[in-house]
Amino acid sequence: MDQMIGNSKKSVRTKKVKDTLIIKLDREKPDLEKLGICAEVIRKGGLVCFPTETVYGLGASAFDPLAVKKIFEAKGRPADNPLIVHIDDGEKLNLVCSGGGEQRKRIKLLAEEFWPGPLTMIADRDPAVPDEVSCGLPTVGIRMPDNRIARELIRLSGVPIAAPSANLSGKPSPSAAEHVIADLFGRVDVIIDGGDCDVGVESTVLDITGKVPAILRPGAVTLEDVVRVLGKGELPDWKKAPAKGERPRSPGMKYTHYSPDAEVRLYDGEDVAAVRGRIAKDAEKLAESGKKVGILTTDEGIGSYDQERFTVISAGSRSDLLTVAHSLYGALRDFDRAGTDVVLAEAYPQNGVGNAVMNRLYRAAGGCVINAGAEKN
Ligand code: TXA
Ligand code: MG
Repeated sequence: MDQMIGNSKKSVRTKKVKDTLIIKLDREKPDLEKLGICAEVIRKGGLVCFPTETVYGLGASAFDPLAVKKIFEAKGRPADNPLIVHIDDGEKLNLVCSGGGEQRKRIKLLAEEFWPGPLTMIADRDPAVPDEVSCGLPTVGIRMPDNRIARELIRLSGVPIAAPSANLSGKPSPSAAEHVIADLFGRVDVIIDGGDCDVGVESTVLDITGKVPAILRPGAVTLEDVVRVLGKGELPDWKKAPAKGERPRSPGMKYTHYSPDAEVRLYDGEDVAAVRGRIAKDAEKLAESGKKVGILTTDEGIGSYDQERFTVISAGSRSDLLTVAHSLYGALRDFDRAGTDVVLAEAYPQNGVGNAVMNRLYRAAGGCVINAGAEKN
């Protein structure tokens, strides 16, 4: 059966090839018998989507190259974008990581503070992890998720689980089971519905192999957190494209990610009131030209826009950007559901979790940033 995914210009026609089982589980007290069935699917080389505290993952046994290949097919993922390996304990860490010395010290310090949690460490890869997982890189991304369903699934499977976010490649990551079902039903064996994800954006990816630990993808664990624990760290400018011929340190970051079907424009500026004024003006103009306009704002800004004329969504509060991270991807998907052509989004200060939010918005906008104030923030 053919299935249309998305509802406008970027829609792709795809083949529904599998009967997908949807299993609902309580994330505080998951039914271990049902999870046992999911673990059996993993052990036999199948694909299981599962919740984590960041976003849902599309998992397969990290030690089964054929199963790992199926992940790339199901998502339509570029072949050079490596996967994160998910573990539930130190034993599995030792199976996938061969790094010693300084690397081990860093892993221990970071794990004590942030695992289980939204931090992926890029470390030396043990040869037991097949090339398919890391796309031939000598390193591997490792994470211990802070979600009982995820950890019990890994434990019962008896193997580390390789898993990217459980969305079609290029779509916003799934922060709720309904997002996974919309993208991957018919393409995977099992989708576990374990409710909404707490964090809502993907983990911080931290390369610990170099002299200075470097954040390759900002997330809920911030640069300040890393520096506090390790004494040093850096967040290279993620807006800067790698020089010609230079291999990006994190291959995933070179792709336009997280985009809804609608075009996204990001409005930046020091004066939030000026930003809102400019968005309201541009929204009018776009609506006059026949476009269906969406506006992504916060609780503080929602009163500034005409909610009768435009689809206005608050992602959370400016005073706590974790709330914005939590709702961001759901909001982007809601705009598509409302049939929006253009989304005008407010920017956020780039510090702490603001880095994670801005990184995702910047990519959703394909780098289209409009300076709406005298100075950029
Ligand atoms: O929160 C998360 O990280 C979620 C959940 C499911 O754990 N996973 C996730 O996976 O976001 P994915 O595949 O969507 O993003 C993984 C990112 C990509 O940007 C990839 O390029 C990078 O991590 N990555 C993975 N292994 C790497 C490696 N060995 N070296 C550099 N970057 C790596
Ligand atoms: Mg992803």
